[in-house]
Amino acid sequence: MSEQIGSAISVDHLTRRFGAGADQLTAVDDVSLEIAAGSVVALTGPSGSGKSTLLHLIGAIEQADSGTVTVDDVEITSLRRAALARYRQRVGFVFQRYHLLPALTVLDNVIAPVLPRRGRTDHTTRARELLDAVGLTGRERALPAQLSGGQQQRVAIARALMGAPGLLLADEPTGNLDSTTGSQILDLLLDLRDQHGMTILLATHEQAIAARCDRLVRLTDGRVAEDLDLTDGEDPADTYGRATQLRL
Ligand SMILES: Nc1ncnc2c1ncn2[C@@H]1O[C@H](COP(=O)(O)OP(=O)(O)O)[C@@H](O)[C@H]1O
Ligand SMILES: [Mg+2]
Repeated sequence: MSEQIGSAISVDHLTRRFGAGADQLTAVDDVSLEIAAGSVVALTGPSGSGKSTLLHLIGAIEQADSGTVTVDDVEITSLRRAALARYRQRVGFVFQRYHLLPALTVLDNVIAPVLPRRGRTDHTTRARELLDAVGLTGRERALPAQLSGGQQQRVAIARALMGAPGLLLADEPTGNLDSTTGSQILDLLLDLRDQHGMTILLATHEQAIAARCDRLVRLTDGRVAEDLDLTDGEDPADTYGRATQLRL
């Protein structure tokens, strides 16, 4: 995966069903998407439209029934277990509820996912740099409960960046935050994209958040109902302050 500009993603006729017989439900229904390296894509649509399932399929934490996902020319939908585990280590995940470990300090939360790899010293240096990048210098020894929601999400973002991902998957990362804090989290993600070179796929209900991304893909019943380029030919890194009159 490229660390400079982020991963290019190709989703081809991807389908994921749950259940069987009359109760069967198609959560992701024949979705095809080409996602440019370094772009920030908002995935919108009502609850149950398949946003999370699509993120899980692209992150290879769920298996497709048919179709393929190709990341930087590697078809991840056909990888074997060991290669799949390596792929997952290079994808960053951020969730609505942060999922920090309550008994660990901020610093240890950031380090935790990569502890089985390399020596601890390297991790600490990198974790401190990332905590600085997300604006949390000085809070390394705090416990998650001592932080605000926005600060906890910053820790989760730093944690997601430990593996230097080419792809960051964020599932409603601002869903638990007030609009000002949510907007600051998006500022941070856009900054990190510019500095580190990442592709970001972000599921969101909020039109003010989606409107600031490079592209908006709206799902309905697991299908792509709308696909809008929001850059108007602008440099993707220069798309701040656009109109927010988008229908989600
Ligand atoms: N593990 C699962 N088992 C059964 N149904 C599921 C599972 N995960 C998701 N679904 C169903 O798939 C559909 C899409 O869900 P999801 O991807 O979570 O949508 P969204 O994130 O847009 O709210 C919903 O109808 C949901 O109930
Ligand atoms: Mg969801």
